[in-house]
Amino acid sequence: MFEQVLQKVEEQCREERIPMLGPEKAKFIAGWVEKVKPSVIVECGTAIGYSGLWMLRVLKEIGSGRLITIEIDSNRAKQAQANFESAGVADLVDSRIGDAQEALKDINEPVDFLLLDNNFDNYYPCFKAIEPQLTNPATVLADNVGIGADSMADYLEHVRENYESETHWFDIDLPWVKKDAIEVSIYRR
Ligand SMILES: C[S@@+](CC[C@H](N)C(=O)[O-])C[C@H]1O[C@@H](n2cnc3c(N)ncnc32)[C@H](O)[C@@H]1O
Repeated sequence: MFEQVLQKVEEQCREERIPMLGPEKAKFIAGWVEKVKPSVIVECGTAIGYSGLWMLRVLKEIGSGRLITIEIDSNRAKQAQANFESAGVADLVDSRIGDAQEALKDINEPVDFLLLDNNFDNYYPCFKAIEPQLTNPATVLADNVGIGADSMADYLEHVRENYESETHWFDIDLPWVKKDAIEVSIYRR
């Protein structure tokens, strides 16, 4: 059932042009989740749950860890919740609706994995909003750092200057983007 839901979500994103990572970047992020085995993942930008499903599949296999995911568009957030339920992973997710920059302030527990995939100019404010909860170290992944570099220049400058940070480029088979990158940063105090 899980695989059918994931496939259906991917098809819907392609057909309706709902932004999603696509399989190339999703595999990469899932690999990081497998490697880090995080206790708490926070994702900014749920859309309809495509990236969430990839990360939740790994958490389910590992048998530990939870996802808190935030989406500003309530219609998308509701679809994501329905998809998590159909895939049988809803018990591992806390789906929140709101502006990530504000919603992050309500998280009062340690966060060891952060995925930034919301509006580009909000990456730095979101990072600063959750920073008090980031563990030492914490894994921080930021999507769209190729196509969105100019809008998130403050974020990129900060992580590249202060932490171990690498840019990974991908050839992507999506109707709206063919090449993009993810920034992987290891946050340390
Ligand atoms: C690139 S999509 C997320 C894709 C998703 N992570 C995936 O791969 O399936 C970006 C999402 O961020 C949402 N968004 C934009 N601004 C936001 C904000 N300030 N707070 C939370 N979500 C936001 C958009 O509505 C959109 O659904």
